[in-house]
Amino acid sequence: MKKHFFFLLCLGVALFSLSCHAQKKINFQPDKNLLQAIPKNYLDAAAQYKVLAKNLPADKFPKTYFPATGKYEFSNSGWWCSGFYPGTLLYLYEQTKDPALYNEALRMLVLLEKEKNNTHTHDLGFMMFCSFGNANRIAPKPEYKEILLTSARSLSTRFNPKTGCIKSWDSKPSDFLVIIDNMMNLELLFWATRVSGDSSFYKIAVTHANTTIKNHFRPDYSSYHVINYDAETGQVKEKKTAQGAADGSAWARGQAWGLYGYTVMYRETKDKKYLEQAGHIAGFILNHTNLPADKIPYWDFNAPGIPGALRDASAGAIMASALIELSGFSDAKNSTIYLKAAEKMIASLSNQTYQAAAGTNGGFLIQHCVGHMPQKTEIDTPLTYADYYFVEAMERYRALKH
Ligand code: GLY
Repeated sequence: MKKHFFFLLCLGVALFSLSCHAQKKINFQPDKNLLQAIPKNYLDAAAQYKVLAKNLPADKFPKTYFPATGKYEFSNSGWWCSGFYPGTLLYLYEQTKDPALYNEALRMLVLLEKEKNNTHTHDLGFMMFCSFGNANRIAPKPEYKEILLTSARSLSTRFNPKTGCIKSWDSKPSDFLVIIDNMMNLELLFWATRVSGDSSFYKIAVTHANTTIKNHFRPDYSSYHVINYDAETGQVKEKKTAQGAADGSAWARGQAWGLYGYTVMYRETKDKKYLEQAGHIAGFILNHTNLPADKIPYWDFNAPGIPGALRDASAGAIMASALIELSGFSDAKNSTIYLKAAEKMIASLSNQTYQAAAGTNGGFLIQHCVGHMPQKTEIDTPLTYADYYFVEAMERYRALKH
């Protein structure tokens, strides 16, 4: 009975969102030059990804590339980013219909499949939904459905009812670490409830998002990166950072993950509190005095050395994509603000400062990202997720109903 109720609820929300998307006309004049640049960007991107594919060892996933030395860094399937390369190939295949891109994506899915049983990471949403989720959307198959459901079950094993959260990182038993990035893994759980009728995935996602609103955000709606809970009592022990400039700073990609995550929460539940949360996060980002004129953020809104600090183009790409979806749920005034900001971000990413020239950047699309500044890894390099969200943002922009 419960199963059926949730199935109908999810179906209702899905149909409601579809009809909103289908009907909503946006009072916004897109930039004609940008609309014209996007098809060329796709073709350039397809050519770039063939360069990347050529340089990829048969059993590896791309991670980053160091333009100064011409060296690549690769990963195995267990790295949190392993879903982005196949996901980007699938997005580009949809735009170009180039079978070489599709075949390369399918080749990577074979290498990635075993991660469906990985219960040691919270990143299964990124890894499996950006890859198999897109593959299943393009050409649904029972085996994709099984892989995604198994992934959702693996992710759910990390939920602790005491903390009301999915554990992000394994560490010593007395700690229970949750990062804002974890909001991005919830979309897989909503999908799993929709196709299985099992409401437990949905409930975990909603509980995690509610706990995160309570503990991750500051009064100005910026977010901490890491919350450490007491796994026995659920009490917050520490609020800190791992990838930001300081515990109290606003790490740019973390703000982007929160914005995207709460926009998805509203899409999936239609609960207004998530729309308000996403709107508040957008306000923090877009009104921040340290957001540069090209709207590509510094790696941390409080990075030392601004305006000389490095930018993180990946954060700009994620924000652009999220803002376009959020605009579709927002009132006319905010919708225009979000679309103008996203448009600027995509235009900036499309210019030669950020979009790599043909044959350069190791075949990655976007340059000037920051992976992990405190650890001094992936500093001012390309990153697979910058490419993925850049391509997604362009498609969302192009598909707007004007
Ligand atoms: N999820 C890790 C990162 O954004 O770098």
